[in-house]
Amino acid sequence: MKEILRPVIENPQETAGLPVLSVVVPTFNERDNVITLFEKLQATLKGVAWEVVYVDDNSPDGTWELVRELARRDGRVRCIRRIARRGLSGACIEGILASCAPYAAVMDADLQHDEMQLPKMLSLLQSGAAELVVGSRFIAGGSADSLNKQRANASAFATKMAKRVLGVEIADPMSGFFMIRRDRFEQLAPRLSTRGFKILLDIVATAHGKLKTVEIPYTFGSRLHGESKLDSVVVLDFLGLVLAKLTNDTVSLRFLMFAVVGCTGLFVHLGALFVALRLFNPPFVEIQALGALIAMTSNFVLNNFLTYRDQRLKGFAILRGLVAFYLVCSVGLFANIGVAFSVYDQEPIWWLAGTAGALMGAVWNYAVSGLFVWRKR
Ligand code: GDD
Ligand code: MN
Repeated sequence: MKEILRPVIENPQETAGLPVLSVVVPTFNERDNVITLFEKLQATLKGVAWEVVYVDDNSPDGTWELVRELARRDGRVRCIRRIARRGLSGACIEGILASCAPYAAVMDADLQHDEMQLPKMLSLLQSGAAELVVGSRFIAGGSADSLNKQRANASAFATKMAKRVLGVEIADPMSGFFMIRRDRFEQLAPRLSTRGFKILLDIVATAHGKLKTVEIPYTFGSRLHGESKLDSVVVLDFLGLVLAKLTNDTVSLRFLMFAVVGCTGLFVHLGALFVALRLFNPPFVEIQALGALIAMTSNFVLNNFLTYRDQRLKGFAILRGLVAFYLVCSVGLFANIGVAFSVYDQEPIWWLAGTAGALMGAVWNYAVSGLFVWRKR
């Protein structure tokens, strides 16, 4: 690499002003917080060559506009505006990868994370004492008293589960506040999930203990302005992440959710049959078809809200997507029956053939709807 670059970079001294630390801040509707955070960074990071990369998912409150304005006035500020995408983890990954600083920190925009810890985190990385430094609420000197009781319990439960199930050893794997060496992050990045909130847990679990980690305590503060974006779907994302990491990424988060939604479809279908038979007593074939249609529709709606939450179809695209989904599932049914038949032919065990068929149908539906229904734009 150096050989290639030598004729291009004539004077290495000119690169001296490049940032050493890149602070990546995911934002969604944080208009009232971004400037205060910038001021705080400026005060804390005196003497460090730093930059801040705000990664905004096209916030309706125009956070990105404000950040752009700030970036026009100060070269240390950068703004990535992502269109038609949502997600904290994905935003952090993109922010880190968009920079070239040898060290990257991730912190929230709402000032709940203590920016005063950044210099200490940086020196731990620079001295080689650590490759990853985690701001921890759950070691001596740290605290999370600002969380309400419900959040605190949920957080404690998730932490315990992640530690037990994934063998993660740090005290606060759910922290959203950390600093990491870029080269180590680049190695792990292709295996990280862009879904959900838990990027640190993902990093630690994916590294399988091969990342020299140090935790330092900090006090999790209260949100300055605006409100938390953590909701119940985030919990679902979390469970999916744990499962995916358990299976060593063979089963993806999205596929799991797709399969779970598929299972709910069965209940919807049976429910529809039950109601229709009770009410009208029509010919069975007709209501079986109607049941399937209702189940496919509910699967589509659930997938659009949960499985493909980050790529949710809106407006007219919903109708087009629904028709495409019907088509995909109809072909999937043939795949299902075909596989079940050929398994049954070899080995006449009904549940084995049935499961193989259903699994084939699910894999087909998943793969093809990823291509034609919720296609990446
Ligand atoms: N780009 C982008 N896209 N940013 C997002 C999104 C999104 O979809 N969702 C949330 N953010 C940003 C918020 O704007 C904020 O800057 C940060 O991510 C954290 O979101 P909050 O909504 O404030 O989360 P929280 O306070 O409930 O939880 C945070 O703190 C916990 C404890 O450290 C998160 O960092 C958790 O991951 C962490 O466990
Ligand atoms: Mn917050």
